[in-house]
Amino acid sequence: MAGGRIIGWGTALPEKVLTNADLSTMMDTSDEWITERTGIKRRHIGGSTASLSVASARRAIAMAGIDPASIDGLVLSTTTPDRTVPATSATVQNELGLRCGAFDVNAACSGFVYAYVIAQGLLAIGAKRLLVIGTDTLSRITDWSDRGTAILFADGSGACVVDATPDAGQLLGWDLDADGSLEHLLYAEVGGYIHMDGKEVFRRAVRIMVDSAKKSLAKAGLSVDDVKLCVPHQANLRIIDAACRNLGIPLERTAIVLHETGNTSSASIPLALFDAADRGRLQNGDIVLLVGFGAGMTAASAVLEWRNP
Ligand code: UT7
Repeated sequence: MAGGRIIGWGTALPEKVLTNADLSTMMDTSDEWITERTGIKRRHIGGSTASLSVASARRAIAMAGIDPASIDGLVLSTTTPDRTVPATSATVQNELGLRCGAFDVNAACSGFVYAYVIAQGLLAIGAKRLLVIGTDTLSRITDWSDRGTAILFADGSGACVVDATPDAGQLLGWDLDADGSLEHLLYAEVGGYIHMDGKEVFRRAVRIMVDSAKKSLAKAGLSVDDVKLCVPHQANLRIIDAACRNLGIPLERTAIVLHETGNTSSASIPLALFDAADRGRLQNGDIVLLVGFGAGMTAASAVLEWRNP
């Protein structure tokens, strides 16, 4: 069965930066509180899901050095589509000049890993070259008077081109999970703002990330000691710290960008993964663990064997 290999990637963040100091002029909070409780220092706000997706995808396509016409499928993970109908992937497909199947995936902050695993399935049944994007514009559904959520959420995008390989490819193990009975902990009605029971989400997040990561590693036949880099969902440094501590992965082997990005949901794992790759932190053969959680309550993880393009 064919596998997949990432041959190019790109990221995009809106130009407008909102610092913790900016937030403290808008609501009863402080740089000190946000830094200590979340690890976030600033976040990027603005743009649409389509515009950020097009920006990150263009960079991924340029890095891969491919003709966009050769892409035969587009999977866009987003919780914040620009419109209810059509899927935002249709807009992105058109703006990039692609002529291929295109669809959105919504698994909240676990979405990019879901999209990547789905892409792997498409490659296994004959697709040759896929564009996988994770983008969210959470600032559009954030209540800017709610200090329990406004300090966390932000906008961004990460994309990659994944090519079919004759061998099993990069993905060694994966796990997708959800528990819809917990949907009340984190939700937004159509046209409404995000509501969140932060404490309860925090408590469960650590447990489900650890559980999902262990399942993926077991499927890959690997242990945490094999993991060169863990790329967790960038929600809160304390959640990352607790999950990694529980797994036995030191923070030095973890990719973290949330001080700069805040929680960008679908974009958070690709932003952290491709930042690490851009910084030269990944060598051929390195084992990478992606692990996320989100509303729904979804969890997803994937174990990859890194191959530099
Ligand atoms: O993609 C998944 C998305 N969701 C998450 O990952 C959220 C997970 N949860 C969290 O990250 C944390 O629960 C929060 C960052 C949301 C809150 O941190 P916490 O340590 O759980 O704080 P808390 O809600 O227990 O509040 C502690 C105190 C309270 O004051 P009192 O009752 O002790 O006087 C809050 O009213 O901090 C107060 N507080 C704040 N103070 C300043 C709550 N939010 C703020 C704030 N600035 N923004």
